Amino acid sequence: MVMIRSWLFVPGHRQKMIDKSPGRGSDALIYDLEDAVPPNETEAARTKVAAALNAAQEGPRRFVRIHGAGHGAVDGDLRAVVRPGLEGLVLPKVDRPEDVLTVDRWLTELESQAGMAPGSVRLAAMIESAVGLIQAPAIAVSSPRLAALMFGAEDFAVDLGLFSFRQGGLLAYARSALVVAAASARLEVVDKVYVDFRDPDGLARETQAARELGFTGKLLIHPAQIEAVHHVFRPTDQEVESARRVVAAFKAVPEEGTMAVDGRMVDLPVVKRAQWILRSAPKKGSSCRGERENGIET
Ligand code: COA
Ligand code: MG
Repeated sequence: MVMIRSWLFVPGHRQKMIDKSPGRGSDALIYDLEDAVPPNETEAARTKVAAALNAAQEGPRRFVRIHGAGHGAVDGDLRAVVRPGLEGLVLPKVDRPEDVLTVDRWLTELESQAGMAPGSVRLAAMIESAVGLIQAPAIAVSSPRLAALMFGAEDFAVDLGLFSFRQGGLLAYARSALVVAAASARLEVVDKVYVDFRDPDGLARETQAARELGFTGKLLIHPAQIEAVHHVFRPTDQEVESARRVVAAFKAVPEEGTMAVDGRMVDLPVVKRAQWILRSAPKKGSSCRGERENGIET
């Protein structure tokens, strides 16, 4: 799957938000059936989200956040939204590999009923608890459907009994651990929501820090957050230019192994990173980043 920088949550019961959401410019939409929707609106939200998927054409990838595997509403959620137009499901509160595997099995049956190719519905697992974080490396390899791990920081803070967590070092550990777990399975890894949606500078700072930790994208709650996030995840002109020089120098004499470019040592990992930067640079007609992979192009 190509990399997704911006994942915009859209409450599943808000028809007006759903209607305009494909044109807002995010790489992906997450129609929410879980915590953004009051329980008495669940049924109406399922109907609205199903209609939005039926109408889906090109544009952002459409995901739906269903209830967690142990929740009584999950069966009804799945029956409503597994249909053409659905790219994948966001699974909340994933604590162990079985939470993913249960949904994986249900999906195989529902895809066949909906006339969809087996295995075509992707999964993104939200890690929102201490036990989920500890299990994250096992969760990351639990199903070939998995495309991403996501950090559910609000629920994580509740699980840890934190009053305030925005400045906390603990959160830095949790975020780093999640990035490593996702990278070990070559998955995308998506940083927490920034709830102060009228604070673009704070969002830009947090997104920059996330990018430096290794996150590949960010969860969003408001369309005004999209551009700032795209800006941070786009390589700067300077990074692209420097990467071009590294790749050109390597291609000229690949047998050298190690060489100097612009006064800095270049070896295979540096070349791989440069190639990754070039793949991530925006291309005409594409809003997504290059694919995460481990090989080196020669
Ligand atoms: N998705 C799509 N459209 C959204 C949106 C979202 N998440 N949030 C706001 N919009 C739209 C509004 O409908 C409005 O559209 P309009 O200009 O066509 O009328 C426009 O963006 C500006 O919205 P604004 O008035 O600034 O915000 P609001 O007060 O309507 O909504 C929130 C603020 C926080 C309630 C809303 O952004 C929201 O519900 N976000 C998602 C919350 C969520 O899903 N949480 C669960 C995951 S943590
Ligand atoms: Mg949550």
